[in-house]
Amino acid sequence: TEAVERAIDAFRQGEPVLVHDADDREGETDILYPAGAVTPADLARLRNDGGGLVFVALSDAVAEAFDLPFLHDLIDHPAARFDGLGYDVRPSFSLTVNHRETYTGITDEDRALTVRTLADAASDPESFDFAGEFRAPGHVHLLRGAPGLLAEREGHTELGLALAGVAERPPAVVGCEMLDDETGEALAPADAAAYAAQRDIPYVEGAALVEALT
Ligand code: 5RP
Ligand code: CA
Ligand code: ZN
Repeated sequence: TEAVERAIDAFRQGEPVLVHDADDREGETDILYPAGAVTPADLARLRNDGGGLVFVALSDAVAEAFDLPFLHDLIDHPAARFDGLGYDVRPSFSLTVNHRETYTGITDEDRALTVRTLADAASDPESFDFAGEFRAPGHVHLLRGAPGLLAEREGHTELGLALAGVAERPPAVVGCEMLDDETGEALAPADAAAYAAQRDIPYVEGAALVEALT
């Protein structure tokens, strides 16, 4: 579709895309960027206009190369047991990290540095010293994509990584859920689409991406 084409083009150019997963899943729209292009101003957009959790999705292969676990497998606590979240089978959460050259790790500049360096890591895992560049815990949440991407899981994690793949970007995508400042709920799809239209940002449905990219 035209929306999918626009989304791929935006990612090629290092620009953001809004992705709504599905009404019967989270029902959330995430602002997503290819991680390598992110500036401190983009980080400010994620936290001001998104308002949810800022995360970086990495492909399963990249996570495997760096030995990045699923957090629920790592935590030895009864709260780490999950019985499904109501809309999905398992969370993507892995470690949280900061680039070692950050101070607090939370400023726009600090998080942008962490995010951009994660794209370097993802573009050439073989020659990248992960523990030399990052420390954990930190202020950027890593998510680990399903090995089979959209064939296996249709979360923003996999939607973003599939988009990065087809746009010939490294498998590292930064994102944040859009929340409604009035209600505190997930921003309604129509409001997210209006936000996108006003700024000439592509808005795309998860189903359209699944259809085009699988
Ligand atoms: C981390 C999340 C978000 O929903 C994010 O979109 C990734 O999760 P998923 O792949 O399940 O959609 O929970 O902030
Ligand atoms: Ca979520
Ligand atoms: Zn999501």
